[in-house]
Amino acid sequence: MPLVNTKEMFKKAYEEGYAIGAFNVNNMEIIQGITEAAKKQQAPLILQVSAGARKYANQTYLLKLVEAAIIETDLPIALHLDHGDSFELCKDCIDGGFTSVMIDGSHLTFEENIALTKQVVEYAKPRNVTVEGELGRLAGVEDDINVNSEDASYTKPEEVEEFVKRTGVDSLAIAIGTSHGAFKFKGEAKLRFDILEEVSKRLPGFPIVLHGASSVIPEFVQIINEHGGDIAGAKGVPEDMLRKAATMAVCKINIDSDLRLAMTAKIREALDIDPKNFDPRKYLSPARDAIKDIVEHKIVEVLGCNGKA
Ligand code: G3H
Ligand code: 13P
Ligand code: ZN
Repeated sequence: MPLVNTKEMFKKAYEEGYAIGAFNVNNMEIIQGITEAAKKQQAPLILQVSAGARKYANQTYLLKLVEAAIIETDLPIALHLDHGDSFELCKDCIDGGFTSVMIDGSHLTFEENIALTKQVVEYAKPRNVTVEGELGRLAGVEDDINVNSEDASYTKPEEVEEFVKRTGVDSLAIAIGTSHGAFKFKGEAKLRFDILEEVSKRLPGFPIVLHGASSVIPEFVQIINEHGGDIAGAKGVPEDMLRKAATMAVCKINIDSDLRLAMTAKIREALDIDPKNFDPRKYLSPARDAIKDIVEHKIVEVLGCNGKA
């Protein structure tokens, strides 16, 4: 099976009330952990690459690893650019074989965001590549850019129809209170489901994307803190909220921090338990297994896309 774009995936997900997991990938072990879980659960997948991941691993290596995963799993997999910040970056990924791109103009004015997003759509559409746009701004850290919570802003539902109509995007990321990274809420977690409802009323049948959707699993936070790390106060989005969003118009849920935490916890633990271990295979194997377990858990208990491949 070749790489697919997100069109059919989202249509089915919307109609049947589940979401597809979009997991960030940076190296072989992460790709293997995610795709082994999806194969076991027969789940469609989006593997996403940020500008930082591209810089770290090299786009060609990541593309070839994802192609290997398709051979191993025979699953419908989309290769997606996460948080593209320029037309040139999106074009480079499209030309390089990505089947989906995000153009993130959420920091621009409404008109500038429309102009940039439209430019990407015009390049992507004839090449059968799907495009995700964003309206509203999440707090948190992306590619070393720190968005303070005072600079974050909820999506304005009254803007979404015009944005989608004028840009021609295939999906829309919205800001309803999630944020990037492992420190999402200081107090009680709160998502603006009223905004999601209003957006979906205005865009019937249209796929919505949720970024910043890691749950920050306490088990991994504890392991990290017990083995020399310090991420006290880390807090994510409760899984029942994500499950609810997945049954609504949300068709793509972005998860990166949970994989980072699982991997880091298992590596710290392995090295701490056996200080003589200097074989990367011996500390990366448990990390890869932990990624597999967490992704399986997300697929079955949060996204509901098991058996939907
Ligand atoms: O939203 C951002 C993702 O977690 C990717 O993070 O830009 O550090 O690769 P990164
Ligand atoms: P998390 O930091 O919550 O995993 O969000 C990831 C994300 O939105 C990638 O685009
Ligand atoms: Zn994101």
